Amino acid sequence: SLPEKVKIVEVGPRDGLQNEKTIVPAEVKICLIDMLSEAGLPVIEATSFVSPKWVPQMADQVEVMKGISKKPGVNYPVLTPNLKGFQAAVKAGATEVAIFGAASELFSKKNINCSVEESLQRFEEVAKAAKEQGVAVRGYVSCVLGCPYEGKVAPGKVAQVAKRLYAMGCYEISLGDTTGVGTPGGMIEMLEAVKHEVPVEALAVHCHDTYGQALANILVALQMGISVVDSSVAGLGGCPYAQGASGNVATEDVVYMLHGLGIQTGVDLAKLMDAGAFICQSLNRRTSSKVAQAASFQ
Ligand code: HMG
Ligand code: MG
Repeated sequence: SLPEKVKIVEVGPRDGLQNEKTIVPAEVKICLIDMLSEAGLPVIEATSFVSPKWVPQMADQVEVMKGISKKPGVNYPVLTPNLKGFQAAVKAGATEVAIFGAASELFSKKNINCSVEESLQRFEEVAKAAKEQGVAVRGYVSCVLGCPYEGKVAPGKVAQVAKRLYAMGCYEISLGDTTGVGTPGGMIEMLEAVKHEVPVEALAVHCHDTYGQALANILVALQMGISVVDSSVAGLGGCPYAQGASGNVATEDVVYMLHGLGIQTGVDLAKLMDAGAFICQSLNRRTSSKVAQAASFQ
């Protein structure tokens, strides 16, 4: 059976833009985020408090956090890899952060320059500080259906990392198919393993559409009781430390599928498409959303 409602976590301003070579002006990011909140998205991942040497596109994180018009009821989580990032995020007004681990050692090393175990220790510190300050924490596990450096990733390893993140206080764990290599069979097998360790209500899926499998993977996740889906407006996206992680699944396409299934999202598809058109125009890029492409011919 399928959920009645799905919460969409919009990651375009962060995951979507972090890989862009040309620096997108902060005003454009701010305008995008405000258009997304106007479209009814309940959660918008706004930026990252990571090293500007590692991800130059996110170097304007404070300006972005201060510039957005925070809409009541909307959450604006930001990525924080360590205590330094956490403190800067709180100072900039963040009330929710995301810690991001991986189920693959080599990916962890390339992405955040430490082993999985070391990363979990850093995340413990962040989670503890967050608890003390009343800041909500979301957790990510990357490479849940495969790794660009290690290939196959064992579902048991994903379950183990997800369990640790949940135990340290993450209210939700987002399972990332970072390079979009997964297919529905793998998704089912992985979710079965993770559901043994973390309640399904606390799980989200984060699919990249590199191989065109994202909607199929999301649909089987919904059938298995998942009701939180990460996606990116216009299908923007990729991870700088995962070659070929082209786009996240497009929010427009997810919303179209969900509404077609009679599932509520609270998102206004027309306004969402306006936000997609705005950012594509700013980037001088064609949208990766099939729904937005189809609509432009009508
Ligand atoms: P490091 O070099 O090992 O860190 O990087 P360090 O502690 O040795 O510090 C080195 C320098 O970075 C120092 O500055 C620190 O102050 C600074 P310096 O003395 O050289 O001038 N530094 C920081 N600056 C700003 N903010 C911070 C911070 N921490 C240290 N928080 C580090 C470790 C984690 C910082 C680095 O590897 C990094 O920033 N990585 C970025 C990773 C990233 O953003 N990746 C993309 C997001 S993950 C993703 O996309 C996957 C996801 O979408 C899910 C999926 O699809 O699977 C979430
Ligand atoms: Mg991602």
